Amino acid sequence: ENDILDKMPLKGKKILITAGPTYEAIDPVRFIGNHSSGKMGFSIAKAAANLGAEVILIAGPSHQIINHSLIHRIDVVSAEQMYTEAHNYFKEVDIAILSAAVADYKPKNVANQKIKKNDDTLSLELTKTKDILASLGKIKKHQFLVGFALETNNEIENAKNKIKHKNLDAIVLNSLQDKGAGFATNTNKITIIDKDFNQKPFQLKSKDDVAKDIMNEIILKINA
Ligand code: CTP
Ligand code: CA
Repeated sequence: ENDILDKMPLKGKKILITAGPTYEAIDPVRFIGNHSSGKMGFSIAKAAANLGAEVILIAGPSHQIINHSLIHRIDVVSAEQMYTEAHNYFKEVDIAILSAAVADYKPKNVANQKIKKNDDTLSLELTKTKDILASLGKIKKHQFLVGFALETNNEIENAKNKIKHKNLDAIVLNSLQDKGAGFATNTNKITIIDKDFNQKPFQLKSKDDVAKDIMNEIILKINA
């Protein structure tokens, strides 16, 4: 009669997930963004909730819709807002999975008024955003911290460096070299690397199935 409980291996656990892109304002009507759909992060949120976890889903601008009593969605726009919300909730969670495609740079100055077209060229000065994942790695205690890595070359090496530099327990490497993996697609191909640099490659599959694989690996590791 333990069957139902066994299907809820994350009952009582809290999970923080970041998803989607961030938009960095240039002026009141324009921004710098990216093509992230948020699909991967929303699939992870669903998979985690279906395993019984209470999910805090911090989402950048995304058309994804999610309805689950265990998922609390917090919408943000910018990297700075995502940083603030992630830090608001991090202390109370057991697991954090940062799948958002956070802007690396934002305009140094945001114009108060719409920028008019005058000269033939326009330069924007950009400044680095805060690295949310690295900042959580610095303060983490009991939390199991998972990052994502999007690489086009030296994939494994770069992903391992991110594990070290950001103090992660595992990283999900997106293989962009494979067709059908990446931003706007419904499928993804990943390799999960843990902090001891064990590598586990997975087949190309739907993002919902990739999300189940990711949650399964995390459950194996936190129970090991
Ligand atoms: N990330 C973050 N905050 C940022 C930038 C990235 O939390 N300001 C997180 C992403 O959500 C992802 C991980 O860091 O989990 C790696 O993102 P990625 O873009 O692959 O790496 P970067 O560290 O930004 O380095 P680069 O883009 O130069 O490869
Ligand atoms: Ca980046």
